[in-house]
Amino acid sequence: MHPLFLKTLLFGLIMLIILTAVSFLQLEDFTSCYKVTGKTRNTDNVAAPSCSPRRNVMFLKTHKTGSTTVQNMLLRYADSRNLNVAIPKDRKTFEADNLFSAKYVDKYQENGTSFNFITHHLRFNSVQLKKVLKAKDTFYFTIIRHPVSQMESAFSFFRRSFAAFKAAKSLEDFLKNANKYYDPASTKGNNELVKNPAWFDFGYDSTGRYSEHEIAKALLEIGKSFDLILITEYFDESMILLKEAMCWDIDDVVTFKHNSRNESDRKNISQDVASRIQDWNSLDWRLYNHFNVTFWAKLEEMFSPARLQEELAILREKRKLLETQCCEDGLFIAKKPGTKGAYFKKFLHMTFQKGEFG
Ligand SMILES: *[C@@H]1O[C@H](CO)[C@@H](O)[C@H](O)[C@H]1NC(C)=O
Ligand SMILES: *[C@@H]1O[C@H](CO)[C@@H](O)[C@H](O)[C@H]1NC(C)=O
Ligand SMILES: *[C@@H]1O[C@H](CO)[C@@H](O)[C@H](O)[C@H]1NC(C)=O
Ligand SMILES: *[C@@H]1O[C@H](CO)[C@@H](O)[C@H](O)[C@H]1NC(C)=O
Repeated sequence: MHPLFLKTLLFGLIMLIILTAVSFLQLEDFTSCYKVTGKTRNTDNVAAPSCSPRRNVMFLKTHKTGSTTVQNMLLRYADSRNLNVAIPKDRKTFEADNLFSAKYVDKYQENGTSFNFITHHLRFNSVQLKKVLKAKDTFYFTIIRHPVSQMESAFSFFRRSFAAFKAAKSLEDFLKNANKYYDPASTKGNNELVKNPAWFDFGYDSTGRYSEHEIAKALLEIGKSFDLILITEYFDESMILLKEAMCWDIDDVVTFKHNSRNESDRKNISQDVASRIQDWNSLDWRLYNHFNVTFWAKLEEMFSPARLQEELAILREKRKLLETQCCEDGLFIAKKPGTKGAYFKKFLHMTFQKGEFG
């Protein structure tokens, strides 16, 4: 054999070894934990997609619904594909106690280029959102949660920050004496999220008196504005439905749970308290029931029961894998030192704790 050939062969072998080592090292770099990007759609059971992945997304981030988990997943997607995300000027929320306005968006210019994604807390306002998300094919979606567990969670989480909750001894006490603790006219102390918070987030008056006709009209409007309304109680089904509707890969919707509380802080709700919560949040209760029905109708329309089960199994398997790779004792380990389990990159923040939603 020619010595030059041998040299080339040896060089090639060494390069191969180096490259393999580097790729192993990259596996150890936990930033990959938050950049879970699929190159191809899961095509095991699915015919090649005739759709193209949605790149323009409006996500209405609701309160105590698992929405932080969804938000982080969306930001991960946008970040890994260099999409243009609309960010609030204060980096936290778009002044969500007011109806959304384009002027709350950092670097917004009336005649500037369009943003691709919006995911931070805001109060829905279709006209202003269209100024920021100019693409006609922008996909509008949100997630809502059963009002009873939503309120139990909100009361526990906002106990010390919401004026109306602060004064009450317990959730039971609050519900029995709501008139004492809650002033519908007050605009202070996050009052707007105490009663019918979802109704409020959708841009309606959460303390208003609505006739049957007006409720039906509002639900119809919401149904027209949003391409999809997901349900926290069926989170995995929601992710499967979402990736299908947006023509995304299943890897894109593998999530970590974010901003969730310790299992032991969860309260059992009595029948009495549950029905009081439903009465208190009667508009949200109507909303939830309405969109629970449309959610299941859509799911059945798009998936056979067998295919749904298969996709759910794949999703759960992938999540388990991600958790073993990226979590330790339930904590997301791709964290920047000194940030208490939060991982920061650009404008994104990621936290992870095991457990159910908030
Ligand atoms: C944006 O474009 C419109 C139409 O061309 C123009 O009337 C308006 O003055 C522009 N606004 C700004 C802030 O440049
Ligand atoms: C959850 O609560 C339990 C019991 O109070 C405690 O031992 C555990 O450390 C908590 N876990 C976290 C992640 O805070
Ligand atoms: C809540 O109810 C469940 C099932 O009935 C029970 O196992 C659990 O111990 C209860 N938790 C508390 C904190 O009462
Ligand atoms: C939501 O819909 C599912 C499927 O039809 C049903 O099993 C469930 O009871 C519904 N939830 C509520 C709160 O109505």
